[in-house]
This record gives sequence, structure tokens and C-alpha cells, in this order.
Amino acid sequence: MRDYRIILIPGDNIGPELMEAALPVLETVTKANEGFRLTFETHPAGAAHYAEHGVAISRKSIEACQTADSVFKAPVGDPSVRTPDGIEAGLLGGILRSDLDLFANVRPIKLYPGAPTPLSGYGPGSIDYVIVRENTEGLYASRGKGVGGPNAVADTMITTRAGTERVVRFAFNLAKKRDGAPADGVRRVTCVEKSNVLRSFALFKKIFLEVAADYPEIEAETIYPDAAAQALVMNPSHYDVLVMENFLGDILSDLGGGTIGGLGMCPGGNIGDQYSYFEPVHGSAPDIAGQGIANPVSQILAGAMLLEHIGEADAARTLRQAVWRALEAGNIPIDRRGRLKIRTMAATEAVIAQV
Ligand code: NAI
Ligand code: MG
Repeated sequence: MRDYRIILIPGDNIGPELMEAALPVLETVTKANEGFRLTFETHPAGAAHYAEHGVAISRKSIEACQTADSVFKAPVGDPSVRTPDGIEAGLLGGILRSDLDLFANVRPIKLYPGAPTPLSGYGPGSIDYVIVRENTEGLYASRGKGVGGPNAVADTMITTRAGTERVVRFAFNLAKKRDGAPADGVRRVTCVEKSNVLRSFALFKKIFLEVAADYPEIEAETIYPDAAAQALVMNPSHYDVLVMENFLGDILSDLGGGTIGGLGMCPGGNIGDQYSYFEPVHGSAPDIAGQGIANPVSQILAGAMLLEHIGEADAARTLRQAVWRALEAGNIPIDRRGRLKIRTMAATEAVIAQV
């Protein structure tokens, strides 16, 4: 029996609702795929934890994340919980991503059946790309370190050769394992960078092209982010894997979410050489918290990514197929604004029924 120890971080606002919805699905899939076992260990962290203890996550919990096989995290944060500098205090991304050196933020954007895309003429599977967002440097390297006074502040963007090379390699290795872009089946990595204006992006692009030369079987191309924002709306089927700087990846992945039925459809993984954690792309959605209407698909699909990462690819496939079929059968209805038309737990039951 393969045994995995998984840390759970239920988070804030809709976080605990999503965790409660996703865990029974993971448990059902585990039972259906004999041969492995998941042991869960819950750690409180986030905005409520900060309000009570003065830190978003304890040292003990960070160490637990480092000794476990992986971490399953729900969204954290609350706009009302802030540091004296005016930034949010309850977020973990910066802490975990740098303490665990999780350099690749992997965000699949895939159109499932029944998911309401605002783009006409796009059916299930016709949008299927992965944004690989550099996760430890770029503009967010200045997280919590901006300099200046009350009337002028500078946040510096950092791009290093080592940091860029490893994330670009990750993107090419991912493209190797995929089936190419939906439009033409070509395995392709697209680098999004603003080298027409900024030196840091010129370095990013240079390193991208150097690494690309090691992967002659994969098409490599570059695009500026402003043009990419249009292309991901008007020509999404062209894309397979995209790699980009941290802040750009943050923005463009939410844009991608808007094309596949909303952020409630978007899982993400934060992956390094040693550690990892999996979570939805979106935040804690205080506007719908406590109502039992959050779409749990993002959290459930994050569970599939976790299973794949720890080595249980069959279970991950079972889980993704179950989500696909539940949506296809119309059992997880979602409105045009990305809101679930049924209760969160009813969506969970629909997925479990398919497993
Ligand atoms: P958000 O991503 O929480 O919400 C944006 C919009 O999408 C809202 O209208 C929300 O209702 C909707 N939405 C999000 N997830 C949904 C789901 N599963 N089902 C249906 N609708 C969903 O972004 P917002 O409001 O800017 O941030 C809220 C809090 O989350 C803030 O404190 C922010 O800092 C934090 N945050 C945390 C993240 C994390 O834990 N990884 C990531 C992004 C934001
Ligand atoms: Mg974001």
C-alpha cells in the first residue's frame, strides 16, 4: 500500500466550503483506485490565523508542509485583514512559494463540457492550454519589500538567469508530455514577455530562446503580453503551454479563467524540485462566502493535479473524467457569470456519482 501524508489548509471565506466539498471526492477516488492511501493533517492558516496570532502561517505548519508528500490548500485571504503598510496580511502565496522554493505555478485552462464560455464557436476541449507562471521572482519578488515613503513607492522587478531557465525548462518538459495545441496538435511553448520595453523581459526572452534550442521537437514562439491578452480571447485553440513572468501569469491566468466558465473551473499547482502544493487559482471570494454556492470544481481539479504529482496518475485521470462526465450530463450547471446554479455539495455529489 502506497501511503501519502497530505497537509490540508482550509483557508478563509469560501476556503473551508471548498475543502469540505473536495475531500469526499478525493476519498472516493482513493477507494476506487486501490493501492494507495492518503492521510490528512489539517493546519489552520490565512487571514483568520493572522488576526489571531499575528502570522498568516506558523513555522510549525511550514515545516509540516516540508515533511509531507504534498499540500492541498483552499483559498486564503480577507481584504479587511491588512498590515500597517496597507497590503493584505492573510496571504500565504509569498511565504510558501519562497520558503518551499516552488518556482513553477502551473495553471491549466481547459474548456469542459457544460462550462459557459463567453466565446462563441468553442466546444469542450477546444481550449486546452497551461500557463506556467514563474513563481519566485519577477515583479512579486518585491512582495513586502517595496521601498519609498507615503507619496512614492517603488516595487522592483527581478529576473535572474537561474530563475528563468528552470521555469522555462519546466514548461518545455510539460509540453513534451502533452498532446499539443487543440487547433493543430502541434506541441508548442509560447513565451509571453515585454522585451519591447523592459530589459528584464529581454533577459527572460533570451534565456527562453536558448532553452528552446534544447527542444527542437517543440515549437517555440514569443508574444508580447498586451497582444497575448487579445490572442487568448480570440485564438485560444492555438495555445498549448505558455511560460511567463510572475505578475503577467497572475493576470493572464484569470483572463483564461474567464474564457472557460470562470475561476471556479481553474485549479493550480505550485511545484518545485522538492515540495509542492495544489489549490484553486482564485481567491477566497468573500462576496459569496457562507452561502454554499461556490463552484468546487477548481478545488476538486486541484486534487487531481495533486494525485498526478505524487504519482497516482490513474486516480487523477479517474477524477478528471468524473468531473468531465458530471458537467457533460448537466449535473453541475453554471451560469454565464461563473456562478453555480446548485449547492456546492450537490456538485460534489454529482462528481462522486461519476467516480
Ligand atoms: P476571487 O478570486 O476570490 O474572486 C473573484 C470573483 O470570482 C468573485 O466574484 C468571486 O465570487 C468569483 N469566484 C471565485 N471563486 C469562485 C468559485 N469557486 N465559484 C464561483 N465564483 C467564484 O478574487 P478577489 O475577490 O479579488 O479576492 C478575494 C480574497 O482572496 C482576497 O483576500 C485576495 O487577496 C485573496 N486571494 C487569495 C488567493 C489564494 O489563496 N491563492 C488567490 C487570489 C486572491
Ligand atoms: Mg491571482
